[in-house]
Amino acid sequence: MPLFPEDIFTEPTDVDPDTLANLGPLRRLAGEWEARTGVDLNPKADGPERRVYIERVLFEPIDPQTNGPQLFYGLRYHIHINTEEEDITFHDQVGYWLWEPATGLVLQTVAIPRGQVAIASGQAAPDADRLVLTATRGQTEYGICSTAFLEYAFRTDSYRIEILFHPDGSWSYVTDTVLTVHGRAEPFAHRDQNRLTRTKEAVPNPLAQIVTAKSMGRAKS
Ligand code: HEM
Repeated sequence: MPLFPEDIFTEPTDVDPDTLANLGPLRRLAGEWEARTGVDLNPKADGPERRVYIERVLFEPIDPQTNGPQLFYGLRYHIHINTEEEDITFHDQVGYWLWEPATGLVLQTVAIPRGQVAIASGQAAPDADRLVLTATRGQTEYGICSTAFLEYAFRTDSYRIEILFHPDGSWSYVTDTVLTVHGRAEPFAHRDQNRLTRTKEAVPNPLAQIVTAKSMGRAKS
């Protein structure tokens, strides 16, 4: 069986407007989250620095997206991190988490305002309690792309995220970002981890809101 269909133009006809009902394993991420228990290991001139951080994450359902016949349901996310000691942002990250129900493909796009982007991919069942996604520098599909300075000074060779969903509704992650730091013989394991608690439920995606409003209007008239 070929991986992709011959017809790359025809879009699916069975698209459900309600993203929250079709997010598979990503459903448990929707909403707003907070934790003060993050731990970061980052590269400094004198060696690894360990910092505890405060994290706020927002995952908003987006309307269904198609690439020809390929259908994704997803979340747009924003991670904001700071620390007790400093007011300045410690880490900021935006992107999308996407789920393709037809194949079990899970994608995370990562954009970091130090001039870096990545697409990580993995496979999961709709009710998975664990997600593992990876991106590798040099790959054209699920790769990592950085500024010329980062390529020279802090080359990012790989990225891996593992998420665990817990029975109490919280979720935790560990990210492993392997950096080749200029002048250092050994790769640096830049690791971040946290466990987050929900502070707000998600609101439905824009199309689902429109469909609901229209059906309520029809019901009134
Ligand atoms: C919770 C997530 C993360 C936190 C809190 C965090 C925090 C940090 C901090 C504090 C530094 C040191 C900055 C400095 O010395 O000026 C750093 C360096 C770096 N991080 Fe992260 N990071 C996170 C995730 C990531 C991810 C996901 C990637 C890439 C996929 C990444 C790529 C890098 C790179 C390339 C550097 C070296 C550049 C530099 O030090 O200027 N980080 N990170």
